[in-house]
Amino acid sequence: MNTDVIVLAAGKGTRMYSDKPKVLHELAGRPMLTHVLHAARQLQARKTCVVTGFQSDLIRNHYSSANDVGNLVWVMQSEQLGTGHAVMQAVPELTDDDAIVLILYGDVPLIQPESLRGLTELAETHGIAVLTLQTENPFGLGRILRNDDGHVVGIVEEKDATDEQRQIKEINTGIMAFRAGLLKKTLTQLNTNNAQGEYYLTDTVAIANAAGVTIAALQTQDEHQVQGVNNRLQLAELERAYQTRKARELALKGVTIMDPGRVDIRGEVTIGRDSMLDINVILQGKVSIGDNVVIGPNVTIIDSSIGNNVHILANSHIEGATLSDSSHVGPFARLRPGTALGTGSKIGNFVETKKATLGTGSKVNHLSYIGDSEIGEHVNVGAGTITCNYDGVNKAKTVIKDGAFIGSNTALVAPVTVGRQATVAAGSVITSDVPDKDLAVARGRQKNISGWQRPVKK
Ligand code: UD1
Ligand code: CA
Repeated sequence: MNTDVIVLAAGKGTRMYSDKPKVLHELAGRPMLTHVLHAARQLQARKTCVVTGFQSDLIRNHYSSANDVGNLVWVMQSEQLGTGHAVMQAVPELTDDDAIVLILYGDVPLIQPESLRGLTELAETHGIAVLTLQTENPFGLGRILRNDDGHVVGIVEEKDATDEQRQIKEINTGIMAFRAGLLKKTLTQLNTNNAQGEYYLTDTVAIANAAGVTIAALQTQDEHQVQGVNNRLQLAELERAYQTRKARELALKGVTIMDPGRVDIRGEVTIGRDSMLDINVILQGKVSIGDNVVIGPNVTIIDSSIGNNVHILANSHIEGATLSDSSHVGPFARLRPGTALGTGSKIGNFVETKKATLGTGSKVNHLSYIGDSEIGEHVNVGAGTITCNYDGVNKAKTVIKDGAFIGSNTALVAPVTVGRQATVAAGSVITSDVPDKDLAVARGRQKNISGWQRPVKK
């Protein structure tokens, strides 16, 4: 089946009260429109026409360098004259009358490819298929009209409905699929003789029915999938629905989640077996986590790769880092981009790292800043050690070789190298290289003054 997709995204989004186009508002760290485009991509759509109007340039620019959203075609709807009018603007792009055309909405972000597959298959056999929902709260939505045999014969908008029709609880989700030829033919018959003076896409249903086409309907049970976002409260509600779904997926694949209501997945995340996420963990961007990993409360991990048997303790913030097997981090550690921790290495509390590699078994346990550094294996960096990597203009590198021992409260003024098995005395300010195995002492000698008299109060 050849599928072309049309995504409607021309609306103004007035109730967001925002300077940003509605469809660029984020859900789980990605614009709503991106979620929709990903669903379309999973259907192997040949092309995806996005109809924009309001703040069109901002939306297009956002995707100008995107490479994960399929073959996008931008279609302009300068005036928003209704959903039918929006689809009409994309007609020149529908060159294959036998293709199935799927209509999606940029502000209905949680739609799932499985539902869409079902709908397109129905359209393939019937020519037209609508996705509907039974709801206790149909207010404001189009109602599905069925005849005595239960066949769908039309859709009536709330504003055009009779009191009797308003009692109907089966609503139009807006998502529809058509054979392209039939869609084009019915679109030419739309008019604006309705309460809103708009070209209603929904009128295609009655038009096709009158022409003798049997309308297929697929009822979804999942309200969140078809929920549109008109304001930020609805966006927040869908965010929770999405997060609940993600937490459930992970839990059912062998991840221990202390509270599925208190974990946030904002990106593409993979987690191995027997790993544990404590409360208020945020995983963002591309994150891969191995087996048997423990992630403590209030930990944020962004675009990072975590091996097996890693422990990340409470309140740590990790971005752009690679953590090898059995490494330990935190509590209260900050790993910035370019951090790579070797097997069994350790970053303790109140340690910040940036562009720093730590070899196997090395430790920076307390209160340090390690930036632009290459640390070998089995190095011990004492509490309060700082790599002075910045002279106010340029950055420079610190190299600490295997087995070195850096005493507490050392300042390593880069560029500088501490040799293999070398020792640096506590409190040193190291400004020149330390040869292998040497002891470097770079501080004033201690002087004891005996018989010292403390000042007395005048
Ligand atoms: C539409 C359906 C209604 C359905 C509801 C589901 C019609 C006539 N009505 O309602 O049956 O229950 O969706 O939410 O289709 N848009 C454009 N250009 C336009 C008008 C709308 O791109 O000229 C886009 C909007 O940005 C939005 C979507 O289409 O993403 C739906 O528009 P909206 O006004 O929210 O829906 P209704 O027309 O009220
Ligand atoms: Ca509307």
